[in-house]
Amino acid sequence: MRVFFLRGYALNSIKSNTLKVGICGYGTVGSGTLALLQGNAKEITRKTGVEIEVYRVASRSLQVDIAGVTYSGTDPFEIAGDGEVDVVVEAMGGFDPAFEVVKKALENGKHVVTANKALIAERGAALIELAEQKGVTLAYESAVAGGIPIVKALREGLAANRIDWLAGIINGTGNFILSEMMDKQREFADVLEEAQALGYAEADPTFDVEGIDAAHKLTIMAAIAFGMPLAFDKTYTEGISALTPEDIGYAKELGYHIKHLGIARLENGWVQTRVHPTLISTKHLLAHVHGVGNAVVVHGHAVGTTLYNGPGAGAEATASSVVADIIDIARAKAQGLARPNVPILGFETLRTDLKALTIDEIETEYYLRITAQDIIGVMANVASELERFGIGIDALIQKESDGKNVPIVILTDKARESELDEAIAAIEKLASVTAPVMRIRVESFGE
Ligand code: HSE
Repeated sequence: MRVFFLRGYALNSIKSNTLKVGICGYGTVGSGTLALLQGNAKEITRKTGVEIEVYRVASRSLQVDIAGVTYSGTDPFEIAGDGEVDVVVEAMGGFDPAFEVVKKALENGKHVVTANKALIAERGAALIELAEQKGVTLAYESAVAGGIPIVKALREGLAANRIDWLAGIINGTGNFILSEMMDKQREFADVLEEAQALGYAEADPTFDVEGIDAAHKLTIMAAIAFGMPLAFDKTYTEGISALTPEDIGYAKELGYHIKHLGIARLENGWVQTRVHPTLISTKHLLAHVHGVGNAVVVHGHAVGTTLYNGPGAGAEATASSVVADIIDIARAKAQGLARPNVPILGFETLRTDLKALTIDEIETEYYLRITAQDIIGVMANVASELERFGIGIDALIQKESDGKNVPIVILTDKARESELDEAIAAIEKLASVTAPVMRIRVESFGE
């Protein structure tokens, strides 16, 4: 608590130093934020010198007044227009009405803290520009990797570095599903239902399992890491719904786990951002992240490789990041600043010279599972097709036949994706090959 002495009287500055917060949306994130702000109020005031009051809450389905909140209602636009509110927490998700609510709040000179990765990744540029014009902040730590302070790590902790690449497990629901499928041989749909009940999954869970949610988060991290504009439309996105327990098992036999990774790399002015299932060595740090856990590995030219690990979803974890952003604003206020003094994406000047690499231009290793008739010569045919397209084989295993078909599992050497596509098309044309080829990228991250 900051205390001023004036003409012999001690004036407690707290009353005039109250930050009023309005929370729009009262689901997992909104209710978690209120609970954390109220439950840890003393400690937060001790840290900031400012009392943080949740003044208003608006929720679509609110039936009763919320304890300790002055106004409980259903209209988020009232919060965005309320002259008493300093900070609007946008915890509604989606674009509509979130975009207009945030826009109105910024136009009215309010700081905005949002957990909405879709909003930042896809429509953030206009909102960031508006925040800059108005001299307020638009904070989004909770939008990426839930409770892990990865935005601050990239933007502040690693600010001295040129970031070469980062890779992460950035969707808790997807990781929860893959972990349960691998460890307990559970069905995909059954695990997804549990993730929804636990408050991990998006309102539309296809965002989780088809990689869209992870692509939003990767887009935001890549913009901060490389200092480039947000480019969601350049992020390649592939989900986990086509993965089978067989692939998870075969990968394990070969010494790999399958994880749903977001990967961003900057090489010679070319940026690649991609989300897809990935084989990583069971020895790699990311292979040991289970359940709803998220983890991001970042490589900076000066620091080397660093790892950030923690809960990626859930009420308290996400609220931890939302409240950290509110604390930044409170601290700025206590110091007499209009807003926290870190640029919103971490760069005063963004790079517009970087070019995007498309998925067919990347080079990596691959896991292939080919389903073929159990007849003599089929392995040789498949191998010779790969050879024809200049793709080397690192490992080739014929698994047990089901009496008719036999799975052939191959690990390739590094190849260009467009060449691999051609080889796969040729393999699928072989008379003995009876099903589409399963292809999963393999990454080693220099280890
Ligand atoms: N649906 C998201 C996840 C929530 O599962 O990671 C946190 O962004």
